[in-house]
Amino acid sequence: MAHHVLDHPLSGHLLAELRDKSTTPDRFRSLTESLTTLLILQATYGIRTKETEIETPIKMTTVKVLDQPLAIVPVLRAGLGMVQPALRLFPDVAVGYIGLERHEDTAIARSYYSKLPRLGGRYTLCLDPMLATGGSAAQAISLIKDHGATQVVMVCIVAAPEGVAYLQAKHPDVPIVSASLDEGLNDRKYIVPGLGDFGDRLYGTP
Ligand code: PRP
Ligand code: URA
Repeated sequence: MAHHVLDHPLSGHLLAELRDKSTTPDRFRSLTESLTTLLILQATYGIRTKETEIETPIKMTTVKVLDQPLAIVPVLRAGLGMVQPALRLFPDVAVGYIGLERHEDTAIARSYYSKLPRLGGRYTLCLDPMLATGGSAAQAISLIKDHGATQVVMVCIVAAPEGVAYLQAKHPDVPIVSASLDEGLNDRKYIVPGLGDFGDRLYGTP
């Protein structure tokens, strides 16, 4: 499936400050929310709509409204920083949670929490800012599909080519939307140039 990389000038501008190592956690959270708003607009292009009639102060007219419920599933911890913009844009959204943590040495993700609503019929966004090896995203999407989702979009901020290839191989039906496609991974499986450990920068932990 397609990988869409945002090319709006504002997206690049926000990402530049997010990458900067001198950006404080407070500013980092705010930038994450602004950038996620742009990502969600792109990621929900495929949501179903229907035509209906309304009356403006001038005349009756045909309008298009959303006709499909949305769900978001942030991957803890870092994905939590992407929740607020989704709630603001889609107040009726259903929210599920998946907790995954990469092992420091192997970079293999271990699942430690999962609380998901029934996702059948819902247009579902998996939110995780970093797509590095792709192991976390692939596990999260498997869990999401186990709960009935058939239309899933992976939404991330920074993606590595290795993670994109891995996720496309594991879940070829899932499009990816990101704000950048970086050079690759270093020997610790961190994205290069990336922005470091997203969860640590979001929450001010070492
Ligand atoms: C980060 C990130 C992703 C994962 C990406 O989480 O938020 O979930 O790494 O790496 P991958 O593509 O190689 O699986 P991390 O495990 O550091 O947990 P945290 O969000 O709790 O810090
Ligand atoms: N997780 C992060 O937070 N950053 C990376 O570069 C890779 C995985």
